[in-house]
Amino acid sequence: MNPHRPITILGIETSCDETSAAIVRAKLGNSPQVLADVTLSQIAEHQPFGGVVPEIAARAHSAHLDRLIAQALHDAQLGLGDIDAIAATAGPGLIGGVIVGLATAKALAYGLNRPLIAVNHLEGHALTARLCDDVAFPYLLLLVSGGHCQILAVEGVGQYRRLGTTIDDAVGEAFDKAAKLMDLGYPGGPEIERWAAAGDPTRFALPRPMVGRPNFDFSFSGLKTALRQLVEANLPLSRKDCADLAAGFQTAIGDCLADRMQRAMEHFNERYDLQPDDRRLVIAGGVAANKYLRSRLGEIAENKNYRLISPPGKWCTDNAVMIAWAGIERFSLGLVDPLTTRARARWPLDQDAPAIAHNRAQMMALGQTKQI
Ligand code: KG4
Ligand code: ZN
Repeated sequence: MNPHRPITILGIETSCDETSAAIVRAKLGNSPQVLADVTLSQIAEHQPFGGVVPEIAARAHSAHLDRLIAQALHDAQLGLGDIDAIAATAGPGLIGGVIVGLATAKALAYGLNRPLIAVNHLEGHALTARLCDDVAFPYLLLLVSGGHCQILAVEGVGQYRRLGTTIDDAVGEAFDKAAKLMDLGYPGGPEIERWAAAGDPTRFALPRPMVGRPNFDFSFSGLKTALRQLVEANLPLSRKDCADLAAGFQTAIGDCLADRMQRAMEHFNERYDLQPDDRRLVIAGGVAANKYLRSRLGEIAENKNYRLISPPGKWCTDNAVMIAWAGIERFSLGLVDPLTTRARARWPLDQDAPAIAHNRAQMMALGQTKQI
């Protein structure tokens, strides 16, 4: 690869309920450019069911993806011949949707005679901060999404060491379930954030599971049960009840994340001998779009001499820019994949991960959840 020539990559994301295509260009020594970023959310189609329906998602991806790719090329004022490689999410996720995106990427790669890059969706979330900001390896990552809640040490592209994870619900899942309990709408995270803004977080007492424990793990199911009991004891809920419960719930989550991340930063300092100026805490994944949580984590990062970095909200929730960027990172290292690469419903980022579902989409694919 010629380091003086820019690399232009088309990214495709179809692992859950956003159909997305993006084009990112990077050249050694220059800031990367997002030339196109097109996302079609399927929220309205899934809303009546209170969660993502895999069949509907897969059909919607196949109905819209071609048009979105054409739109991305149009926005970037490029032709297919200008694309150096095609990057697509190859998992983890709802398998029908992943197959649609990966098969489209393979067809383009084959037809254009360009390399395919099969991207792990979680790696997309994990590396986005390096597109937006000056973040060198290693860094500490809090990955908080609809189905995963993990603390990882990111040592390099493809090199992840997991410090902690949730032992039950993922944090985004907890937000979604909490909103469902109060009938606030789907997806729950943004709704809880909106209601919490007008609420009193001290009115209702809610637990802080795992706080103070000598590990880096999370647990949110007890918090959800406590919320359910409060909801049931206060029916019918007034608007004020909803706002106060949402604020109490969001604050409890903030306390849990802050406690776990404080410990993680102390551990990270011991393990990686970084100068204070080089310490970075990155938050990524859909829940990282929450402004209250960002500001809570910003405070504890500052106390520990870390810089908090979080991509803009639109690149925290699922999007193809993160997949195109992960594609650039991998392509720059010569990491490309054969056209025989398979779509994967499960695909943990770290090799040591137990064989459990790691993301909302996966759990749904496995039929283990989504009765929210
Ligand atoms: O990363 P993402 O788009 O999809 C997955 O890979 O899971 O994350 C979606 C999750 C949902 O659970 C949604 O409720 C949550 O992120 N979320 C939020 C906010 N925006 C999205 N949670 C809390 N506050 C938000 N503002
Ligand atoms: Zn995601």
